[in-house]
Amino acid sequence: MKYRHLLSFFALAASLSVQAQNTTQELVLNTLKPGAEIQKTMYGIFFEDINFAADGGLYAEMIKNRSFEFPQALQGWKTAGNVKIMDDGPFERNPHYARLSDPGHAHKRTVLENEGFFGMGIEKDHEYRFSVWARVPDGKPSKLRVEFVDVLREEHGRMNFDRVKLDIDSKEWKKYTATFKSSETHAKAYVRIFLDDKETVDVEHVSLFPTDTFNGHENGMRKDLAQALADLKPGVFRFPGGCIVEGSDLDTRYQWKNSVGPVENRPLNQNRWQYTFTHRFYPDYYQSYGLGFYEYFLLSEEIGSEPLPILSVGLACQYQNDDMSAHVPVDQLDSYVQDALDLIEFANGDVTTTWGKLRADMGHPAPFNLKYLGIGNEQWGPEYPERLEVFVKALRKAHPEIKLVGSSGPDPDGEKFDYLWPEMNRLGADLVDEHFYRPVDFFKKAATRYDNYPRKGAKVFAGEYACHEDGKAWNHYYAALMEAAFMTGLERNADIVHMATYAPLFAHVEGWQWRPDMIWFDNLKTVRTCSYYVQQLYSVYKGTNVMPLTMGNQPVTGAEGQEGLFATACLDKATNQYYVKIVNVSKKDLTVPVTLKVKKPKAAVADRDVHCIRFSCGDPDAENTVEHPNRITPTESHFSMTGNTLQAHIPAESFSVFVIPVQ
Ligand code: AHR
Repeated sequence: MKYRHLLSFFALAASLSVQAQNTTQELVLNTLKPGAEIQKTMYGIFFEDINFAADGGLYAEMIKNRSFEFPQALQGWKTAGNVKIMDDGPFERNPHYARLSDPGHAHKRTVLENEGFFGMGIEKDHEYRFSVWARVPDGKPSKLRVEFVDVLREEHGRMNFDRVKLDIDSKEWKKYTATFKSSETHAKAYVRIFLDDKETVDVEHVSLFPTDTFNGHENGMRKDLAQALADLKPGVFRFPGGCIVEGSDLDTRYQWKNSVGPVENRPLNQNRWQYTFTHRFYPDYYQSYGLGFYEYFLLSEEIGSEPLPILSVGLACQYQNDDMSAHVPVDQLDSYVQDALDLIEFANGDVTTTWGKLRADMGHPAPFNLKYLGIGNEQWGPEYPERLEVFVKALRKAHPEIKLVGSSGPDPDGEKFDYLWPEMNRLGADLVDEHFYRPVDFFKKAATRYDNYPRKGAKVFAGEYACHEDGKAWNHYYAALMEAAFMTGLERNADIVHMATYAPLFAHVEGWQWRPDMIWFDNLKTVRTCSYYVQQLYSVYKGTNVMPLTMGNQPVTGAEGQEGLFATACLDKATNQYYVKIVNVSKKDLTVPVTLKVKKPKAAVADRDVHCIRFSCGDPDAENTVEHPNRITPTESHFSMTGNTLQAHIPAESFSVFVIPVQ
């Protein structure tokens, strides 16, 4: 104890010398007035299949175009010998398959080679499950041989895997499976399937997964990426997007009913982001729907989030379709509304209902407890509320328990936004989705954005946001610091802000078309960006109630005289701790006295151990990369707090969370 006092003495002395220069006014946390409840859904994740986030990303399938359904049936595949594409396969909605026949010459071979998504990442000592639906159409037994090659090695060296042979013996379609183990790590493996006998073999739905997926599901998620989501402790999980909900046209909108049931029979959908790669030639961006609504609900449950599906309102992407004939007429929305009603049945319905039964058949008899549903993504103009109204009427009647999320359009202000907010209130939306991809200045100012919002009416869902800074690296530290400053305003206004999700979530380093993004990855590695850590600190230290925190009797919003500080505080009733978040956007190191206003100031009987989690970096332009994924990560330290005041040393351009036990 003596030693501790000595340390405190030195800490105090050190802080006094800093104080001489840069001590700010005190921050006062009024412990007598716990404020609004912070919703469980406050900080969450926004998932969209953009930047190869699903196929080639979170969805652990490693074979591209596994069902030969891309419009160019052999895209992603190379062939040699005698390979034909047929279209009368066993899966009605994916009718194509490949027929491998004898090439007719002793030295020739018939082989299919799949390139994966930018290659396949294979790890040493990990196991992989290869499977294929196959048959011998002539009824004569035959063989397949499966091998892996490493395309980074000169001459495409064969990898140190077992070469597996599969005996194909049935005239009927059957699933054949083999498991491999690698003794090496490879960033760019390809898989080859040889016809290893004379007789013809038909192959369909060729699949390769690591056996070690997140929570071990066979049709599962890449473990490192899903774990990164779980580590965010997200309160809400929005899916499947984004513009992808709307599609480039109505035909390519996300149709959840196509994304459930056996994976082999989920039809392919063109990805809405297919044609948006300005810098690359990628006409190969499709959605296999292997990661479908069942998998989204399950993942949401497993990472402890409330699921928030968003469905089409009958408007195709308005950026790409300004002609009204591209959209569903208001009086023809029945099937769209039915999709919404059926989705609620799929998520929550009894197992005796049609859609509840399908959920049970897929492995989840218990309901998913869906509470929120969004209709429409980034829509605008009168055409949106006109359509939304039809949904609201039907959904309120059948499911008054479901909270409905409407949209305020693509911008956080301006004509579209000003028109839609009152319209959402007129229709009685429970939450309104706001989007802002904006520069540094916007984010600094937006820390006070919600301070003067009306307290009545729909709640706010800050559904897509990220700080974009032209001419800078993507996901650099300073942009994340601005997001941290902005988020103090979310927390302070938790009475009306009920959800917030950074966007987009994922990007493959070789397959992105939008940046910045929260998590980058290649086929082997994950990069948690600076923005990721900011999100994580807010989410992990979310608390249960906002607490009043002031500097000079004002909220701490970087205002004049506040030394570039943005701060907020909350109480966590579950752990009996205060979380004080302080963002310093100035270039000065500061000493900030944080005083707890208590009933009886002398009640502080013992020193408190204050845990500090700090995110800081000397270089505002620095970022985490695949080469240096852990360059900037939060650090932890402890302070001793004597009495009710903490002398918080706050470095220049830093974000700190102080965890203070309630006494
Ligand atoms: O997050 C990327 C895109 O930004 C979303 O799909 C869309 O809603 C917004 O325009």
